[in-house]
Amino acid sequence: MTKKSIFTVIGARPQFIKAAAVSRLISRHEGLEEILVHTGQHYDGNMSQIFFDELEIPVPNVNLGVGSGGHGEQTGQMLSAIEKELLKHKPDCLLVYGDTNSTLAGALAAAKLHIPVAHVEAGLRSFNRNMPEEINRVMADHLSEWLFTPTNEAVSNLATEGILGDKVIESGDVMYDAALYFGHKAESESRILDDLGLKAGEYILSTVHRAENTDDPVRLEAIMQGLGLASQTCPVILPLHPRTTAVLKRQGITFSDNSNVRVIDPVGYLDMVMLEKNAKLIVTDSGGVQKEAFFYKVPCVTLRDETEWVELLALGWNRLVHPESAEHISECVMHAMGTKGQSGSPYGDGKAANIIVDSLFERL
Ligand code: UD1
Ligand code: UDP
Repeated sequence: MTKKSIFTVIGARPQFIKAAAVSRLISRHEGLEEILVHTGQHYDGNMSQIFFDELEIPVPNVNLGVGSGGHGEQTGQMLSAIEKELLKHKPDCLLVYGDTNSTLAGALAAAKLHIPVAHVEAGLRSFNRNMPEEINRVMADHLSEWLFTPTNEAVSNLATEGILGDKVIESGDVMYDAALYFGHKAESESRILDDLGLKAGEYILSTVHRAENTDDPVRLEAIMQGLGLASQTCPVILPLHPRTTAVLKRQGITFSDNSNVRVIDPVGYLDMVMLEKNAKLIVTDSGGVQKEAFFYKVPCVTLRDETEWVELLALGWNRLVHPESAEHISECVMHAMGTKGQSGSPYGDGKAANIIVDSLFERL
């Protein structure tokens, strides 16, 4: 049997984790083969290579080496380089994940060449067009032939925009698959708690990287000072995205002497899972980390004005905190500590990747 070829475009940290769940199944499928393209959007060892090493992701066929840049420059370079690869490989479909510039570039390049696009994590909306991710995800959804949605809410969002019927497949969330698959491996392989001298339930884990927070000096200062205040009650571990590290340095933002915030480099997924599982509370602006907090039943504070993952608010595991002042953030963090939400399983049963791979095979 001639295998059908899936051309996957990934480039940013959360996409490596999502692809780990799906690429593993593609590699085991006798009727499918994958051409894996890394755009090079993320390139530091701890933002890229570590995930390939830990999560058994196949070595990409090519790394386009696009790197950092303005939105137009970065997306434009990816578009042009992906088009060349698509013309060379002539795949049966293109597969993209999430809402980054790599997602948009992949979807646009393929749609223009009449190659069907499959979008995993389709239908999410923040309804805030100031977010680059919102533009990327709306465009990717409207360019796609097959839309794999993580939640019911995502299905309704697509319906509102006229995207209905067979195109929309409610697969569940591949990040939940990854959390189940790698959760045990993290327990046996990660040494991060010992390495950092941390005890379960005695620290707050935080991540901050979203443009709306890093690019607004008032918000960023409020967040860092808010974490500083909260850390006087419970120490904060902050594995910091390089984007945020660069802005803090540029703006000279530092923590006060009496704060107990420990800034560390970004960590691999297995260490991150251990830090999440054992945290007393998670404070983040990350999409993936919000959900992982829920998977591990750790309460979460999200430093944003809205979230695409509205189920987490409804279940009470997450709350939005507008980063208006350090005092407000610290108060909300204190308030959230020790809270619990209701049970529920809005992200499927951990078999999203199976549904995606089987549906792609059927449709191709
Ligand atoms: C991107 C995605 C965002 C996603 C995030 C995941 C877009 C528009 N944004 O944001 O949706 O949540 O990835 O982490 O696609 N940098 C490094 N080394 C790296 C990568 C980045 O130093 O390996 C620094 C550079 O200064 C760069 C900055 O981080 O300019 C931003 O990187 P970029 O990939 O443009 O956006 P992210 O903020 O990572
Ligand atoms: N993550 C990680 N190491 C870190 C920070 C995050 O492995 O130091 C993982 C995290 O567990 C989640 C994913 O990266 O699976 C989330 O990526 P990120 O926050 O960069 O992007 P977003 O999900 O907001 O798009």
